[in-house]
Amino acid sequence: MCGIVAAVCGSRDVRADVLAGLKTLEYRGYDSAGMAVLHDGAIEIRRKMGKIANLEKELQENQLPSSTQAIAHTRWATHGPPADRNAHPHCDDRKDLVIVHNGIIENYLELRQELTDCGHAFSTDTDTEILANLIAMYMRQGQDLHGAVRAALEAASGSYGLVAMAAAEPGVLVVARMDSPLVIGVGEFGRFAASDMPALLHLTREFLILENGETAVLKSDSHQLFDKSGAPIERDLYHCNWSPEEAERGGYPHFMLKEIYEQPAVLARTAFDRCNDQKGDIEFELEFGLSQDDLRSIKRLRFMAMGTSQNSALIGQQMLAELARIPGETLNASEFLYSPELEEDNALTVVVSQSGETADTLRAMREVQRRGGKVLGICNVQGSTLAREADHLVLTHCGPEIGVASTKAFFGQVTALYLLAIHIGRANSTLDAAAGRKLIEDLRHLRVNLDASFRPEVSEQIAAAAKYLATVKSCLFLGRSLQHPVALEGALKLKEISYIHAEGYPAGEMKHGPIALIDENFPVVALATTGRTYQKMLSNIQEVRARSGKVVVIAASGDSVARDASDFMIEVPEVPELLAPLITIIPLQLLSYQVALLLERDIDQPRNLAKSVTVE
Ligand code: AGP
Repeated sequence: MCGIVAAVCGSRDVRADVLAGLKTLEYRGYDSAGMAVLHDGAIEIRRKMGKIANLEKELQENQLPSSTQAIAHTRWATHGPPADRNAHPHCDDRKDLVIVHNGIIENYLELRQELTDCGHAFSTDTDTEILANLIAMYMRQGQDLHGAVRAALEAASGSYGLVAMAAAEPGVLVVARMDSPLVIGVGEFGRFAASDMPALLHLTREFLILENGETAVLKSDSHQLFDKSGAPIERDLYHCNWSPEEAERGGYPHFMLKEIYEQPAVLARTAFDRCNDQKGDIEFELEFGLSQDDLRSIKRLRFMAMGTSQNSALIGQQMLAELARIPGETLNASEFLYSPELEEDNALTVVVSQSGETADTLRAMREVQRRGGKVLGICNVQGSTLAREADHLVLTHCGPEIGVASTKAFFGQVTALYLLAIHIGRANSTLDAAAGRKLIEDLRHLRVNLDASFRPEVSEQIAAAAKYLATVKSCLFLGRSLQHPVALEGALKLKEISYIHAEGYPAGEMKHGPIALIDENFPVVALATTGRTYQKMLSNIQEVRARSGKVVVIAASGDSVARDASDFMIEVPEVPELLAPLITIIPLQLLSYQVALLLERDIDQPRNLAKSVTVE
């Protein structure tokens, strides 16, 4: 998705600050970048297709003048192909003002026609340029920049995160938000705006979260927020405790690898402060907001998410059924909108999202609430839309996840869902204190086993399998029960960063079609850890090999039967079946990473993908 960074300061030249912030947004996926400044009453813009490095080269060859206010943008094309002319920032036809915009203006064609009829000329294919001219039109009718932005957004329909500045109003930035996240940074020497907090951590830790329909006027030493009606409002500052280092790579070649290795620490951050070992219970923070009676009244669970978060939700569904004896279903959030309206009584909807800004997921959450249902959010970003709009909340505390391919967030979500299952099981007495203590003890023991997932001999096994998989065109991932969602997640990782076609399947499905695909060029990755599905998985592996298919098997260390049945064996520690997804997902993440490395893919910013899909 697009990225925004903007600054207005008293005397400081902000060009370098804004460019540094823009670089932290690279992970979001983009195809062009640009920056604009206001200098001596004139707007100057530089923008280039491709990576920010191209913009930096342009800025060296064709410098922007120093300025105390600047706006910058990374574009993920929606209207108009990637091209220098379509890169943001965009100005009106007289260069009276300039804006950067995330989101989609849905009635842009109608607005473009109206503006053309009023004599405006356009030089790009973007909806954003239309918005710039619409704001300019209102300014020419006498509105100040803030008034003109509000009037233009009244006329426009769609989503936006927007920053505007005008030649006639030096020292002012106007920001606005509808569905596309925007945060305001409050610093000692200025005010800032960005798509998300990591982009401003080098400037401030104090933030204001803009809500849908709100606008704000930023000056170097002041800020004023306005609600949907245009009335001034006050809001407390939010202190972000992420350090800039946490949002940086920390010496790893890719954010994705750093975040895979952070998973043992995520276990501690997500779980251990919440475990009451004596009572065998879990203590969530105040945001959880569900009483013991509320928990006892839950008779049905609905899980909703997209992508990786849907895969962790599928695991959560099984954990809640197993530990709290509550039936559930997991829905792709984008599909929920077309589902028939049913009774919400005694049901709880669990919405899972790393970013808390996924448009499909947010729309589904709001639909549940419109139907009278209650929503528990499982989210990694405090202050995100999901974190603020859900009725109840569990934060995963994974720290910023920068790599587009989600890894530690999946791990934190599954851990949080395990805690939730214990908590509800204890509330509705399906788990006594002893059982709760045992489940918490299992989680603490997992910490030791996780380190075994990163042993050198396992890395060698992964490297051997990756070398082979890098040569194939397609691959099936097979698992059963709790390992079926892990198979889905392993396939998603491989496809999204290596671009190899991969599908996850319940292994029992093989005979019903997929086995027709198997031959010497179509391999399988099989999750054959010990437990109730082990024997059946061995049979599936034999079926694949009988048809010359190669098999990469993830199985318990020392399992000679699995080793003999496999072409490539990746060993994992033996853990309780309910926690096995937290162990088997790690080699699958590393396997995909190694394959993508061999294929020289853009691992942190895979093609066509964005970290947070804020458009439907
Ligand atoms: C996963 O690796 C992908 N980046 C993608 O499927 C992601 O999980 C999905 O877009 C949901 O994002 P969210 O968790 O922020 O809602």
